Amino acid sequence: MNFMADRERTFFDKVFENNRKWVAEKSAVDPAYFSKLAEGQNPEVLFVGCSDSRVSAEELMGAHPGEVFVHRNISNMVGSTDLNALSVVEYAIGALQVKHVVICGHYGCGGVKAAMQAQDLGLLNPWLRRIRDVYRLHRAELDAIADDHERYDRLVELNVEEQCINVIKTAVFQKAYLKTRAPAVHAWVFDMRTGRLVDLHFDFAGKLGEIRQIYDLGTSL
Ligand code: CO
Repeated sequence: MNFMADRERTFFDKVFENNRKWVAEKSAVDPAYFSKLAEGQNPEVLFVGCSDSRVSAEELMGAHPGEVFVHRNISNMVGSTDLNALSVVEYAIGALQVKHVVICGHYGCGGVKAAMQAQDLGLLNPWLRRIRDVYRLHRAELDAIADDHERYDRLVELNVEEQCINVIKTAVFQKAYLKTRAPAVHAWVFDMRTGRLVDLHFDFAGKLGEIRQIYDLGTSL
């Protein structure tokens, strides 16, 4: 067995050992923990975050299994032709009836950084092009920022807000919101330099009116 295989075996042995410990710890506190977990889920929050290994949705929120419905992809996108993200949004809002949708970006996002550079990344090009579209939408503001790091941070924030807007554009959101005034949509950024979550205070009510002037699907109750 070569060195890599040994390393992998050690890693996965550790994973299963960790899992056994976790089961024992949870069961010691509540012997019915897993049977209750198996009964079903009723999360109040849909969290859309980046796939970056440092942005662990539950851990940074202190959330437990059953509390948050999670979708992660490169740069926390909710694309208009992304069946994966849209299916998650559809199910979370339409079936689970979450009360909150959170789009959570993070400073230092590799996807956003790549979108700011002139490079051909093959299959990633169309994915990242949508971040370039965000740049184009906010070009005046971004080009006015002289500092490269500040401009990068700001594009991370603006991309999060654009993905919030993409949620508002969906029929499932518009139908749910007309009927129940929920879910609310939130824009957050995780700052891994400090570990802090930053609420961008997305102007949800204001944006909703503005967005619906163009993207109103005429959904009725
Ligand atoms: Co990222």
